[in-house]
Amino acid sequence: MTDRAPHPSAAGLAEPLRSRWSPSVYDDAHRLSSTEVETLLRAAQWAPSKGNTQPWAFFVCVPGTHQHDRLVATLSRGNAGWVPRASVVFVTTAQVRESDDPDAPSYSDHALYDVGQAAAHLTLQAGAMGLHAHQFAGFDHDALAEALRVPATHRVLTGIAVGVPGDPADVDERTAARDRRDRARRPLDEWVFGERFGDPFVPAPLADSGA
Ligand SMILES: Cc1cc2nc3c(=O)[nH]c(=O)nc-3n(C[C@H](O)[C@H](O)[C@H](O)COP(=O)(O)O)c2cc1C
Repeated sequence: MTDRAPHPSAAGLAEPLRSRWSPSVYDDAHRLSSTEVETLLRAAQWAPSKGNTQPWAFFVCVPGTHQHDRLVATLSRGNAGWVPRASVVFVTTAQVRESDDPDAPSYSDHALYDVGQAAAHLTLQAGAMGLHAHQFAGFDHDALAEALRVPATHRVLTGIAVGVPGDPADVDERTAARDRRDRARRPLDEWVFGERFGDPFVPAPLADSGA
């Protein structure tokens, strides 16, 4: 794909996990077909969710549409330079309440988890289709919820910008520099535990030997 991925520690992963990364320089001339957009949405549709509650609702923001204009108007300064160049942006929302009544019961205690998982599925489907996805939360959530008339049953969560990487020479240096930043991860021993929280996980010595 590009020299941004895979990272050596991701070498053992399956595609498209291995090659996934989040570009900030998109080719603004690239467009997705409606079939491709639908396939991406199908990946989210087929994600698992608690009790099959499927608490997600997505907006499809293609450049030139009102919803895209509304999204762009709410972007943070850091995201305003790159998000508008993506081929399509999905805005994810989660159903958090049963009804509009602010005291209504929660729709699902796992709604946020489930929408995150649906977003991950869409992101990986994008990779399998030769596309890239970059998720983001830097925008005015309240302003966008109002502009898109999102009801009180739902909470706006994130954007997922999808497209193909562009030429760094076409964007300002600050945006281009984002795609040269180091990609790093916390080591496994910081967050993988065994007997108790904080205790290292020690693989059983025989498990790997086949004995
Ligand atoms: C919930 C969420 C919010 C994010 N918000 C932003 C954002 O506002 N702007 C941005 O440039 N990237 C954002 N990102 C992308 C992360 O910064 C990126 O995934 C992380 O640095 C790891 O890089 P990689 O995806 O290339 O491995 C967000 C990612 C997630 C999952």
